[in-house]
Amino acid sequence: MAVRQDTIWERFLSPVVRLLIDEESLRRYAESVDWEKESASFRRDDVTIPSYYTSQNFHGIEGGYLNSGAAVTYDAITQYVVPPNETWVRQALIDAIIVQPRRILDLGCGTGSTTLMLKQAFPQAEVIGLDLSPYMLVRAEHKAQSAKLDITWRHGNAEKTVFKDASFDLVTASLLFHETPPTVSQAILHESFRLLVEGGQILILDGNQKTLRQLEWLNDVFEEPYIRDYAAGSVDASMGTAGFAAVQTQDIWWINQVTSGVKPILGDNTIKKSVGQYARATDNNDLEDFGSPAFGTKA
Ligand SMILES: C[S@@+](CC[C@H](N)C(=O)[O-])C[C@H]1O[C@@H](n2cnc3c(N)ncnc32)[C@H](O)[C@@H]1O
Repeated sequence: MAVRQDTIWERFLSPVVRLLIDEESLRRYAESVDWEKESASFRRDDVTIPSYYTSQNFHGIEGGYLNSGAAVTYDAITQYVVPPNETWVRQALIDAIIVQPRRILDLGCGTGSTTLMLKQAFPQAEVIGLDLSPYMLVRAEHKAQSAKLDITWRHGNAEKTVFKDASFDLVTASLLFHETPPTVSQAILHESFRLLVEGGQILILDGNQKTLRQLEWLNDVFEEPYIRDYAAGSVDASMGTAGFAAVQTQDIWWINQVTSGVKPILGDNTIKKSVGQYARATDNNDLEDFGSPAFGTKA
């Protein structure tokens, strides 16, 4: 894969990280998988790949995420670029959940690191991870199998999914919005609003916009075509535009942030955090038969 040579990542950090990564075991893993065959089982012909996704390189890798190389190396690199500790940062999203979800959708799930944690936190919930790259989904499914977690992986575009209105109690996205143009991020928030039941929660974990604005050089560390737009924006404001209430952003170790919003309950001008008792859906594929929302606060 061709990579750009002029980012701080390529010039300084990548050689250090490469020393830390067990490239041999990654190579063995990569060679043990029939990527084309396994990715074909996820690939859906009705998914149109948007131009922003393939017209730019991400992290200096040509072709972005639509290849097995990205799926193999993503976790190995990400553990070193989400300070101070990747698991703590992802746990901050889990800790910010205020609903007891029956059905969870993780948008731009990638290799499923946050998706797996969501399933571990809510073993009874149906958890779906959605991503534009079938190769990332192959890696995600391998991880779920190793962890013995039953998660559904879905090839799709987070801007326009095939799911019914009001079919999820919780929608999440981690490390997605710094990689999408602002119009796409806004479309994803509108789609999330449509997908959530009333009282349902959205959580967006990503780089800390205030910090990225203050430390402009951080934006040059990686080849990230949309990170400046992301830093200049406000996830809070975008959530408000999409119709969410009770929007609040929490700093996570200064470098990251988690933004939470709730889809308002019609006719109720106070956003309730506890609105009923958690009940397992008998048919997880269709929540529309249930009075919504049907969940309570986490203990
Ligand atoms: C930086 S990775 C984050 C992956 C994962 N959420 C995590 O926390 O590690 C961004 C992911 O978003 C996916 N992606 C980008 N745009 C998307 C879209 N419009 N719909 C679905 N997935 C998208 C990419 O394929 C990639 O796997």
